[in-house]
Amino acid sequence: MGAGASANYAEEYDKKTPAELNKILDGMRAEQREALLSTLSSKVTAEAKDGGGESTDCTVLVCGGGNAAQVVTGLLSTRYKTIAVSFFADEAAKWKAALGDDNYELEVKGAHVSKIISKPADVTNDPSVAKEADVIILAVPSFAHGEYFEKFAPHMKPGTIVGVMPARSGGDILFANKLGDKAKDMTFVGFETLPWACRFTEWGKKATILGTKNNILAAVTPTSKKDRALHCLQGLLGVFPCIQSSPNNLGISLRNPGMIVHPGVMYGRWGPDVWDGKPVDENPLFYQGVDEFTEKVLLEMTEEVQTLCRKMESLVPGLSLKDACTLKQWYLDCYDGQMSDTSSLRRCMNTNKGYDGLKHPCKEVDGKWMPDLKYRYIAEDVPTGLCFAKGLAELAEVPTPRIDKVLTWAQKCIELELLVDGKMAGKDVAKTRAPQGVGIKTMEEFIVSAKLK
Ligand code: NAI
Repeated sequence: MGAGASANYAEEYDKKTPAELNKILDGMRAEQREALLSTLSSKVTAEAKDGGGESTDCTVLVCGGGNAAQVVTGLLSTRYKTIAVSFFADEAAKWKAALGDDNYELEVKGAHVSKIISKPADVTNDPSVAKEADVIILAVPSFAHGEYFEKFAPHMKPGTIVGVMPARSGGDILFANKLGDKAKDMTFVGFETLPWACRFTEWGKKATILGTKNNILAAVTPTSKKDRALHCLQGLLGVFPCIQSSPNNLGISLRNPGMIVHPGVMYGRWGPDVWDGKPVDENPLFYQGVDEFTEKVLLEMTEEVQTLCRKMESLVPGLSLKDACTLKQWYLDCYDGQMSDTSSLRRCMNTNKGYDGLKHPCKEVDGKWMPDLKYRYIAEDVPTGLCFAKGLAELAEVPTPRIDKVLTWAQKCIELELLVDGKMAGKDVAKTRAPQGVGIKTMEEFIVSAKLK
């Protein structure tokens, strides 16, 4: 419909009295009336919230149904209209049934207000609720992000803030790819991690926040929307963690510690150099068990990522990847005071109180232990972390011999074909966050999709 047509409508409706307008509404079919009202309400809300109008309410969608999603839902439902959305199997229906008429109970360990009682406005698997959302929070493992973006895309209204915690790597590019032309009207916020350590205690009904981080990094695409997006998300989270603005989502992507730590430590213990494939007597400690060989693997991987960072900064004038630090620096940033010896990366991991007693993902077999090589440390962190770094390194022509070795081993564990002759060219690359997985073949194309210029 052209501008002329809308001008005619405006003139026509200008002449009508409220009673006549009401009559027109009454004469509409129910679905026509609903479509009109929904369009008007989302337009008015979006305009008011972006401009100088009043904003009393905020509608938030929380995606997922695991530990994190339940905690976010419990926390936000006390204050704002919060709708939990899960597309995973029949999880939404199960959650709704589990909660029934009860309230959700969130325990906050160590807090004066230690119990938060709330009720989500709904729990659903209907993607069209995205039309109501001012904010969408993904608190679900990263392999599921693409499905949420894709299903919400047709319904989202301009100005929606999409916060992803944690975003892992390349989340902004996946978002832009799934939303297509609509992405330019949305705000993507990539968080470096989840703000809390948390667990549900009674699925669908009760959860516990074990600890809240002091600070958390987040980057906003496009950067012009940074203030509004971060203020809004800070308001939702409360005082802590304090959201610190990171210059760009590429920094969040390359900072991702899980993409180094998890596949690296698994390779260091169960890779071809050290393990004979037979069950072991003890289930080994994951962090406290990091030995010299594993430390070497981790150091080489993190250094390769650093070389990539410096190359990217040289290719894009003004780009700062300061937050994409080495793994050791990440430990110093995030676990300050919790490690009794910070003299090396290995000692940071071995002496970190937060990691006390954490073991390798293993299954017991006849009183001995076999590693679970399909655990999320590989199944999540390789496709949505390491593959991004490797794919980008390939575009930047940065050699990554150690990452290649880890990836070659890991892809067999998760039965994917990713790396072929040292290139991200396997048939399963589209299942990963490697830029090549969304058809990006050159550095120029990457720079455009990552909005680095
Ligand atoms: P979780 O393992 O509890 O998440 C399970 C949820 O993921 C399910 O309820 C379902 O909604 C979804 N899901 C599982 N399999 C699926 C599939 N095949 N297809 C689609 N959806 C599926 O994970 P959690 O603990 O909620 O963590 C969410 C993210 O936050 C993860 O990336 C995790 O690594 C990260 N994280 C969690 C922390 C925690 O304390 N829970 C701490 C730091 C990071």
